[in-house]
Amino acid sequence: MAETGVLAGRAAIVTGGGRGIGAAIAVAMAGAGAVVTICDLADGGRATADEIVAAGGRATSFTCEVSDPEQVQLAVDYGPEGLRVNAILPGYIDTDMGGRRAALPADQAAAALARREASAALQPLGRQAQADEIARVAVFLASDAASFMTGSMVTVDGGCTATFRYGS
Ligand SMILES: NC(=O)c1ccc[n+]([C@@H]2O[C@H](COP(=O)([O-])OP(=O)(O)OC[C@H]3O[C@@H](n4cnc5c(N)ncnc54)[C@H](O)[C@@H]3O)[C@@H](O)[C@H]2O)c1
Repeated sequence: MAETGVLAGRAAIVTGGGRGIGAAIAVAMAGAGAVVTICDLADGGRATADEIVAAGGRATSFTCEVSDPEQVQLAVDYGPEGLRVNAILPGYIDTDMGGRRAALPADQAAAALARREASAALQPLGRQAQADEIARVAVFLASDAASFMTGSMVTVDGGCTATFRYGS
């Protein structure tokens, strides 16, 4: 993985990096040169960290529970020191969000996936996104290219919410 890159010399903490969008963000940030710390429930996202290290990147993982409102206030307090906090608002992303499909019998899981893909097909871009399409935006937001962005909510949804506003 890259020793140089838009996040070279940076340290990234990726919550929920054990799978899905968070895992893709962790891999993309490591690929952009960041040293990545992954935190997640259960095993803390060790498989993602192992994948990054196997590819030549730098990553560690630890178990944590991030539903703590005090962490948000901490982020605001560190703003003057250069800490920026931005949110990505994703649309339909091709993950097993919440692990629900994995817990279903195969036929029900296939039906659930088909329903999801049919809904995504109604969006302007007509498909689900792959998780790395969200990860690339996360890398941009963490890079100097986004140096004056903080407190922003960045919609990455294939045009889904635009149809709510303007009708379709
Ligand atoms: N996939 C989508 O289409 C979609 C769309 C809109 C929003 N989102 C949101 O994006 C986020 C990630 O989605 P995903 O599809 O990658 O989900 P996912 O279920 O595939 O992955 C979520 C990861 O977060 C971890 N996690 C959950 N609660 C945690 C906690 N309290 N502390 C630490 N780790 C925790 C899980 O163990 C898991 O590894 C979720 O908040 C989801 O609601 C997803």
